[in-house]
Amino acid sequence: MLDIEYPIVLAGMGGMGGPVSGPELVAAVSNAGGLGVLGCAFLSARKVDEMIRETKRLTDKPFGVDTIIPPDVPLSGTTAELKVDLDLPVAKDEAGGADEPDVIDKLRRELGVPVPSGGKGWLSGIADDTVWTQEDFKKQVEVILEHRVPVWAAGLGDPSPWLEECRAKGTKVIGVVGGVRGARRLARAGVDIMAASGYEAGGHNGRVGTMVLIPQVVDAISPVPVLAGGGIGDGRGLVAALALGAVGVWCGSVFLSTKEAIYEEYHKQKILESTEDDTVVSKVITGKQSRYLKNPLINAWDGAGLPTLPMPMQSIAIIPILDGAYEANMMDIVPAPAGQVVGMTREIKPAKQVVEEMVKGAMHILEQLSQGGD
Ligand SMILES: Cc1cc2nc3c(=O)[nH]c(=O)nc-3n(C[C@H](O)[C@H](O)[C@H](O)COP(=O)(O)O)c2cc1C
Repeated sequence: MLDIEYPIVLAGMGGMGGPVSGPELVAAVSNAGGLGVLGCAFLSARKVDEMIRETKRLTDKPFGVDTIIPPDVPLSGTTAELKVDLDLPVAKDEAGGADEPDVIDKLRRELGVPVPSGGKGWLSGIADDTVWTQEDFKKQVEVILEHRVPVWAAGLGDPSPWLEECRAKGTKVIGVVGGVRGARRLARAGVDIMAASGYEAGGHNGRVGTMVLIPQVVDAISPVPVLAGGGIGDGRGLVAALALGAVGVWCGSVFLSTKEAIYEEYHKQKILESTEDDTVVSKVITGKQSRYLKNPLINAWDGAGLPTLPMPMQSIAIIPILDGAYEANMMDIVPAPAGQVVGMTREIKPAKQVVEEMVKGAMHILEQLSQGGD
């Protein structure tokens, strides 16, 4: 269906500050025989266009683009316009930063993060290319369709309105879900493939573990093919996914420590030292449940029992802390989405090697199993 050699799909990994799975990583995975998927979640249509062009330059193999289409975000508005709607009491103290909400100002000080200078930080520096709204997310899909990208992965929403056009343009659609109900809904709508991510997964994840999620999704939507996501990091995981009824894997975190991933060097090193228990689930960064490397900002917010705002207002509210932390090189506070599989990663490798080792490991296990375990 996807015209690829191995059933290994690089999960779309986006980010508010730019993609994690960018053109280089995507091309490396596709060139190695898997399917690379660009993470374009919060990027402007202009930036999505640029990334697709760059990927086409780096590979002539099929690849995909992941965007998110949450139905519950505002219809339109820039970061500055949406900030006006935050409706949080604003800090009076000049020294605390001009227009920060009180709660953000207090937390920023507690964490020792300086006031961001504006214009240089993680989000403010690329403000024109960070988008949050339904209107902007629609524009992203239009670019994907214009380019006739082989695969569109649609996270956090329902791609139904675009399915007919995708079919006409030859773009296969992957629905990204975290539970059986969502999988049933998207299968009925007619997506081509389902990626189901369990609780182990990095970034936005499901509420139940991959081991129980996958067979239940497979049973619920058969014959729609399922990719298993969440906690898969080597050939053992790939074979397990196949045994659970999936046709392949949807892997994000195992590629974070590759040479090609656009992920802070500090966080790549952190992953190499991480155990299976060094990630945490929180709504603090995007307003929706996501998994990250343990982080003092998440700890402080959740520890104080502070409520979170809905997407995208939560992200917009905490921009001053993120920007300030980035500018001051306080990388422990800059959020780094990552899954529990990071406990298995001990080396920075080229993405091609990750794909090859996964295939080799899986083949070895399958041979052993077919010989009765000798
Ligand atoms: C750094 C990072 C960023 C992510 N960004 C997105 C995203 O923008 N859109 C999306 O649908 N899923 C996103 N995810 C979730 C992945 O698509 C996928 O479900 C998950 O990585 C699979 O589990 P694993 O991390 O255990 O491999 C992200 C995951 C990570 C680790």
